[in-house]
Amino acid sequence: MASLAPTLSCTISRLNLLAELSHNHHRTIRFFRTLSSKLRPQKSFYPRRSFKSSFSSPNFESTSSNCSKSLRSSPVFNDNLVVLGIETSCDDTAAAVVRSNGEILSQVVSSQADLLARYGGVAPKMAEEAHSQVIDQVVQDALDNANLTEADLSAVAVTIGPGLSLCLRVGVQKARKIAASYQLPIVGVHHMEAHALIARLCERDLQFPFMALLISGGHNLLVLAHDLGHYLQLGTTIDDAIGEAYDKTAKWLGLDLRRSGGAAIEELALRGDAESINFSVPMKQHKDCNFSYAGLKTQVRLAIESKNIDAGIPFSSASIEEQGLRADIAASFQRVAVLHLEERCERAIQWALEIEPSIKHLVVSGGVASNQYVRARLHEVVAKNSLQLVCPPPSLCTDNGVMIAWTGIENFRLGRFDPPPPAVEPEDCQVDLRPRWPLGEEYGRGRSVARSMRTARIHPSLTSLTQASRHQHP
Ligand code: KG4
Ligand code: ZN
Repeated sequence: MASLAPTLSCTISRLNLLAELSHNHHRTIRFFRTLSSKLRPQKSFYPRRSFKSSFSSPNFESTSSNCSKSLRSSPVFNDNLVVLGIETSCDDTAAAVVRSNGEILSQVVSSQADLLARYGGVAPKMAEEAHSQVIDQVVQDALDNANLTEADLSAVAVTIGPGLSLCLRVGVQKARKIAASYQLPIVGVHHMEAHALIARLCERDLQFPFMALLISGGHNLLVLAHDLGHYLQLGTTIDDAIGEAYDKTAKWLGLDLRRSGGAAIEELALRGDAESINFSVPMKQHKDCNFSYAGLKTQVRLAIESKNIDAGIPFSSASIEEQGLRADIAASFQRVAVLHLEERCERAIQWALEIEPSIKHLVVSGGVASNQYVRARLHEVVAKNSLQLVCPPPSLCTDNGVMIAWTGIENFRLGRFDPPPPAVEPEDCQVDLRPRWPLGEEYGRGRSVARSMRTARIHPSLTSLTQASRHQHP
């Protein structure tokens, strides 16, 4: 029987990250309230912290990646912030400590892979429990691996949405506890902004504006990133995200889900014939940049049923012949799933260049961007359009604390943070969580009628909040 205990894995690498802070106002924690120029001098708003000399880690030179080397030489990265990032929006409990010069001091991820494999998806209550079990240890490990204590931090960044409320709450409460105890500012981070901005930690030349394709288990977004906190949504999914389609295909093919459905399909697809099954490419007739993966999922399920494949029989126990059939389905599914991405990106690049001719980069990030086939195909697309593809390394594409800390740093620099919570919070203190929180405003040409009709927004988009705040505090 698989253990319920999440697997804890720690890696230390050397990239940067950024975080954003939260603030408690009369029992309500509000994020992004402080976009005022009054708060811009963040270095003096809070008492200056003395940084330990261990921040200049002696290992820095010897272990620095090309990525962090380029960052260190950039003037943007010269301030001396150290931020803890906490991520619990879905099924991974992650924490990391990052310096504003681009060095990743620690990165810890505790995955709920065993739970996922057992239940075939994320069950919010169980995911919350798993986060609660490991959050203290994950954060402690991140600090220990960085050779720091909470007192050395400049700020704490934490994901406040989008995601599962129960799960987000675990991370936010932990962040607030630390921030209150050590009088640290808090940055509330948008999970999808973090997936996009992590690319700026890896690629020194990546300036705004740029395009981003963000592909994960719950999101399929094509955005034009005008600036920090300012995104134009060119396309999104009208039903499922590509990661969900990978995960279900893996489950129906009886694959071992303990790593991730996507990684299992990627590996199996290498053994199959991608032309063997002619799945149709979604939304061909829609000349926009939106996505749909529900229909492809159905096509895959029907193909599996028609070949009498029993998902109850694990792949390793299937006959050689049936393993071949399963590999063919995996490869054919992947070809068409990615073709859909390619077609939408082609169009989105045209649209984006009409709006912002100076765009030079397409960022591809989120869990599915760790897939080598996806990267290779999208590389072809951007090359045709004389753009550059920027893909963070796989460990920074899947959910991680580094991207939260880095997004925190970028926002913190602009004064977008909240002051430390009070040492004692009222029992009924409501935490600001944003389970459904769009990243940007929809581009008129790309609006999907089908999607708009069923979209109940709980929060205004990050972009509209940023802009409203600019008007209040020009
Ligand atoms: O960004 P992420 O870690 O979490 C969410 O925010 O959803 O993305 C998780 C998704 C899962 O659907 C997983 O199957 C997929 O990313 N994924 C992959 C690969 N690695 C993870 N999909 C395709 N190929 C991979 N190698
Ligand atoms: Zn994610």
